[in-house]
Amino acid sequence: MAYLTKTKSGQPVLLLKEGTSRSRGKEAQRNNIMAARVIGEAVRSTLGPRGMDKMLIDSLGDITITNDGAAILDEIDVEHPAAKMMVEVAKTQDDMVGDGTTTAVVVAGELLKKAEELLDENVHPTLIVSGYRKASQKAIEALRGIGLTVDLDDRETLKKVAVTSMGSKVIGSAREHFAEIAIDAVKQVAEKRGDSMVADIGNIQIIKKGGESLQDTEMVKGIIIDKEVLHPNMPKRIEKAKIALVNAPVEVEKTEASAEVRIKDPSQMKAFLDQETNMLKKMVEEVKKAGANVLFCQKGIDDMAQHFLAKEGVLAVRRVKQSDMDKLSRATGGKIVNDLDDLNAEDLGSAELVEEKKVGEDRMVFVEGCEDPRSVSILIRAGLERMVDEAERAMHDGLSVVADVIERNQVVTGGGATEATVAKELREYATKVGGREQLAIESFAESLETIPKTLAENAGLEQIDIMVQMRSAHEKPQGQHTGVDVFAGKVSNLREEGVIEPLSVKEQAIKSSVESASMILRIDDVIASKKTEAPPTPPGGPGGPAGAPGEGPGGMPGGMPPEY
Ligand SMILES: Nc1ncnc2c1ncn2[C@@H]1O[C@H](COP(=O)(O)OP(=O)(O)OP(=O)(O)O)[C@@H](O)[C@H]1O
Ligand SMILES: [Mg+2]
Repeated sequence: MAYLTKTKSGQPVLLLKEGTSRSRGKEAQRNNIMAARVIGEAVRSTLGPRGMDKMLIDSLGDITITNDGAAILDEIDVEHPAAKMMVEVAKTQDDMVGDGTTTAVVVAGELLKKAEELLDENVHPTLIVSGYRKASQKAIEALRGIGLTVDLDDRETLKKVAVTSMGSKVIGSAREHFAEIAIDAVKQVAEKRGDSMVADIGNIQIIKKGGESLQDTEMVKGIIIDKEVLHPNMPKRIEKAKIALVNAPVEVEKTEASAEVRIKDPSQMKAFLDQETNMLKKMVEEVKKAGANVLFCQKGIDDMAQHFLAKEGVLAVRRVKQSDMDKLSRATGGKIVNDLDDLNAEDLGSAELVEEKKVGEDRMVFVEGCEDPRSVSILIRAGLERMVDEAERAMHDGLSVVADVIERNQVVTGGGATEATVAKELREYATKVGGREQLAIESFAESLETIPKTLAENAGLEQIDIMVQMRSAHEKPQGQHTGVDVFAGKVSNLREEGVIEPLSVKEQAIKSSVESASMILRIDDVIASKKTEAPPTPPGGPGGPAGAPGEGPGGMPGGMPPEY
């Protein structure tokens, strides 16, 4: 259906292309809210240590079993643009702080559900949005007020934060062990920049291998290359390694055109073969001349060259991934050369030890004691293949929260305690604001309370009883740390139980959930072009800036579902 409008003289003007669909006003709002809420509902049951897992099957039939909000939403292929915005919430949360993705999505879904109730009472969306904005500012203020400072040498507290974040992942008793590794690894990469600490966990290499138990997961101070030493006669262990990093084949180049060489007598044949051998020998000499005893080559290494390298006592690995070459370069201080002839002693990297070790069924090369002490790797082990992946996600959460606390040393109590405290402060604030915005602020407070509510629900507890106990505990000044103890099945002081989380995770969850909820609420007009075969996704995805009513849907990806 094409859309028409009329000029003053009554002349019809065609505005939109044939096949464009449009929904406006309340209808557009309701559709968007509903789609976004469904996403919130979908991940809700996974919240907390007693939350359930989801089994995701992709189009190729591969199965993922996870509890991780970001992973779930990453796997499911959502179609509706508003639902896509909710997926963005999880992504943003994951990128910024690495944990709390389920929380952010559940709160965003709840904010929209409550907004719908307000819309039913004829509260204008603009007022809801401004009420939510005020509430989020106040919530962040309240949050900062209750944050407790952590001494970065206080390993016990860091461990509790890491264990809490991994509480919901199916790694069981390996949690403590994982937490220790996460702390060691993050401390290794953390550095002081100006007055602040920076801990970039992107510097931590994670290698996964099935076959052992989670307890065998270990941290290695260095880089692990998932390749074996090339030749059986090569050394398997080199101390005080001088490492050549080469991005060129150690092979004699074959000509593109097929040529024929006629050989008349055996001496000619020998000379021909000798020449090839000599070329390879010369290449190996270049490596040796530079003083290298280890060679990592991004390309191939000829059999004959392997033999010469082995004779020279060089440990060589071929077809190393580019990303691994870059890591090696950073870690060992070596320069990647593109031509063997250019290899010099200055180009070599160094490491205390390069050694091939057996990991499960495979052999890998460990480069340890690197020049750059910030190069660390974690070798994740688990019995089942699927377990390895979930263990990696758990480690990711553990690393993220330790890094969060190192970068900003504030923590709050988990188990819904923080959300309950903030909700209480918001309710007091709401009465001061008054008017219709008061309603929105109260809705915001209730939305935050879905966290303790959902934790209770997922633990099979009686939601109403728990919430009554929570509210009454939080009325008392010492009740601030009261949360849902999902294992004991009652409310208790969770700070004492060691259930603590980084303040930055909670703060980011509030920011991203309110942003997306407001963005969705401000949309009152959805104009969707006719779907093309492969709908192009605009760069930057759906998470663009909030637009004024009417301009919001302009930046949305893809088309609307046909029933839209
Ligand atoms: N032992 C515990 N008792 C009570 N609540 C806990 C406990 N451990 C963790 N929690 C709570 O569980 C919630 C976190 O659950 P979960 O890790 O499943 O979701 P998330 O962190 O929001 O998202 P994700 O980890 O998927 O990115 C937090 O509110 C946290 O305080
Ligand atoms: Mg978590």
